[in-house]
Amino acid sequence: MRVIVVKDKAAMGKRAWEVMQEAIMGHANPVLGLATGSTPIPLYDEMARANKAGKADFSTTITFNLDEYVGLAPEHDQSYRCFMNKNLFDKININKANTHVPDGKAKDVPAFCAEYERMMDDIGGVHCQVLGIGSNGHIGFNEPGSSLASRTRMVQLTDRTIQDNSRFFAGKKDVPTKAITMGIGTVLEADSIILLANGANKADAVKKSLEGPITCMAPASALQLHGDVTFIVTEDAAAGLTRMVER
Ligand code: PGA
Repeated sequence: MRVIVVKDKAAMGKRAWEVMQEAIMGHANPVLGLATGSTPIPLYDEMARANKAGKADFSTTITFNLDEYVGLAPEHDQSYRCFMNKNLFDKININKANTHVPDGKAKDVPAFCAEYERMMDDIGGVHCQVLGIGSNGHIGFNEPGSSLASRTRMVQLTDRTIQDNSRFFAGKKDVPTKAITMGIGTVLEADSIILLANGANKADAVKKSLEGPITCMAPASALQLHGDVTFIVTEDAAAGLTRMVER
């Protein structure tokens, strides 16, 4: 696994954009797996900057987001659809019809999840998957205990995730308790994966993912099973690592 340690969030975004460009090079219709949260924002800023400068064209790009809260409509200001529009899609020349975020209001959730998987399959899979990591090691909303073979499905959020995400809501009680998320098995099917982490609160999760045993209790440790993974982490998030890294 490739591990790149960078000074700060801005450098993390720049390196991530470089690695992403290598991953999608040569694809006429690049398929990106995208993540929400504060971590990928510097990457999305780089993508928007490159697009504005005429150095990147997203008109043929297709995207699939990892997850969405159950119960939030796309218009809700804390929905992940709204986050993606605001932080990326509205800033680049992507065709919104080619951007996919799970439907938090799906009436038949299992049928929706099966359809989401089918759409990814039909398109030939994800070329480059972007991931953040939860302080508890989750990827997407695959909380500790998730099967390493899991597929897109509805999950219950842990108290720690609800607490972590309450900063975006009026209060903890306003955070949805369920979500639809791609599974760990789904994520592992991407051709390449970039995991981003910054902040000292991620150090333990990063160490367990890279140096710990593969276990459902540290969902990102499943990435050890994938042949093309790049972790791009800031120094504080890399503080616990003893293995070799690039700088
Ligand atoms: P964050 O969330 O980027 O807001 O820290 C990451 C995650 O929970 O996956």
